[in-house]
Amino acid sequence: MRSDYCGTLRAEHIDQEVTLCGWVDRRRDHGGVIFIDLRDREGIVQVVFDPDAGDHFHLADRVRGEYVLQVTGKVRARDAATVNPNMATGEVEVYGTALLILNEAETTPFPLDSHASVGEDVRLKYRYLDLRRHDMQAGLRFRSKVTSAVRNYLDGQGFLDIETPILTRATPEGARDYLVPSRTHENKFFALPQSPQLFKQLLMVSGFDRYYQIAKCFRDEDLRADRQPEFTQIDIEASFMSEEQIMGVTEDMIRQVFKQAKDVNLGEFPRMTYADAIAQYGSDKPDLRIPLTLVDVKDLMTEVDFKVFSGPAKDPKGRVTALKVPGGNDKLTRKQIDDYTKFVGIYGAKGLAYIKVNDKSDLEEGLQSPIVKFLPNDVRAALLERLQAENGDLIFFGADKAKVVTEALGALRCKLGADLDLYTQEWAPLWVVDFPMFEEDSDGEWNSLHHPFTAPSCTVEELEADPGQALSRAYDMVLNGTELGGGSIRIHNQAMQQAVFRVLGIEEDEQREKFGFLLDALKYGAPPHGGLAFGLDRLIMLMVGASSIRDVIAFPKTQSAACVMTDAPGGVDEQQLKELNIRLRKKEKPASES
Ligand code: AMO
Ligand code: AMP
Repeated sequence: MRSDYCGTLRAEHIDQEVTLCGWVDRRRDHGGVIFIDLRDREGIVQVVFDPDAGDHFHLADRVRGEYVLQVTGKVRARDAATVNPNMATGEVEVYGTALLILNEAETTPFPLDSHASVGEDVRLKYRYLDLRRHDMQAGLRFRSKVTSAVRNYLDGQGFLDIETPILTRATPEGARDYLVPSRTHENKFFALPQSPQLFKQLLMVSGFDRYYQIAKCFRDEDLRADRQPEFTQIDIEASFMSEEQIMGVTEDMIRQVFKQAKDVNLGEFPRMTYADAIAQYGSDKPDLRIPLTLVDVKDLMTEVDFKVFSGPAKDPKGRVTALKVPGGNDKLTRKQIDDYTKFVGIYGAKGLAYIKVNDKSDLEEGLQSPIVKFLPNDVRAALLERLQAENGDLIFFGADKAKVVTEALGALRCKLGADLDLYTQEWAPLWVVDFPMFEEDSDGEWNSLHHPFTAPSCTVEELEADPGQALSRAYDMVLNGTELGGGSIRIHNQAMQQAVFRVLGIEEDEQREKFGFLLDALKYGAPPHGGLAFGLDRLIMLMVGASSIRDVIAFPKTQSAACVMTDAPGGVDEQQLKELNIRLRKKEKPASES
């Protein structure tokens, strides 16, 4: 139907006859001459119809925005005065000789130019129109370029692309499962995979040696700007490779992808232990673009006459830490400090003490703060020394259980970085290593920090003797404060796998019931293996600078995990439920309504 894409026409096409297909981006009537901006996925070109085109001219007069046209005409140079340097095709136009309306269009529910601000609900309801917009097209094209670079790289390294099932058993990654009832097996359910984790390990047992898959994963969890219930991983697994080698290949892959798709050379990927990340950045995914760090001052506060500080300072599970904002005295108003106090409240912090350093040489009068009266001069001096504070600096404090302080001040650090634009570089990748195997929940039970198949760096005996001390052979790749990917060396030995299950409180019969196939597989010559999975959507989101993961997914779910376009999830009819042996429970009404 067409000879060229609209957006590809250039001066070298002048005098050629072309046939184009596309959508009417704009139609203007300039005193008897009709200009149509015709758009396809490659861009826009101006088409001109004058009365010499006869019936075609009259047809051109009829077209409206988003009509679908086939246009034939001759490419010609624009007059010098009408050349449009802002348009890739701006040197030329098409002098139209024939026009066919392939389809008409009603007025769209919102303007399709990328600059119009339109509510996300409407955009998602009419996603197929939203996706016509330039930025959305560019984002998805970029995504395709990245997946192609990923495939090229991994194919080149001998990784085999192998698919794994979507209808499966639970694959624990810490979220709730999406369940699918089985019709043929009464009262039984499939779970959609939270990741291909167990299957990729089994492929290693089978001897495929190097696997990858661009895989859909499903997790029923609370959604945020960088989380979707259904998302895509670049999933990788390899046998007989150390963590160094796996980190090496995957880091190289990310470097190549940035180079090919964005022409960016990522610098060094420093290594940081989990313990250092938490201590200095208050996060296991530190944003190293921001030059602020947390400085612990617990030891200075045990004896001060201020319970808010001395309590946590004496508590082994407490943390007292400081965050210095250089020059913060002038940069932050009282109102902003109040807003930050509210902000840390989201993370459970009960307040946000601060000291303004007006004159560090005058310990009596030079410090301005609601709490400085509680701190003796030697503590004041030690604080200033440890923080290397200068006049004009502002120091924030967090004191509470370690978890609260870490999360609150870690988040505050990022917020200050964004609000005050403290970024020192565009890209800050790193590896976080030496994660603990387990974390304790509020009921005193152990949970895996990664997943239960991650190998510890200690023996079975050491693991069982003190699970809280055990470190894992896991590694996360972090970019600009986002966890881009995570992986580990896996357990390839049945006894170790069972020990980990035991620590997690999964007893023998439950182990067999849920993971019998894995435990069996580990008996038949499972090779040492490990891998990693990147969040593809997050990678693209960072690379294109989108603020929401939804902007780089063609048909994403809303914050409440629904699709407003198809209206999914939807009800099902009685017959289907019957076949599935399911009876729906009536939702109980709140007492006030009954
Ligand atoms: P993990 O659970 O860390 O590891 O997931 C790997 C990466 O997937 C991305 N990701 C998400 N992206 C969007 N929406 C979500 N809801 C979401 N959840 C995770 C993140 C994350 O780093 N099987 C292991 C990997 C392995 O050990 O090889 C796994 O799934 O970018
Ligand atoms: P209060 O004694 O509650 O009036 O608090 C005095 C100062 O300490 C205020 O600036 C509070 O914001 C701050 N503050 C209170 N609780 C904490 C806490 N847990 N961590 C840090 N600062 C706090």
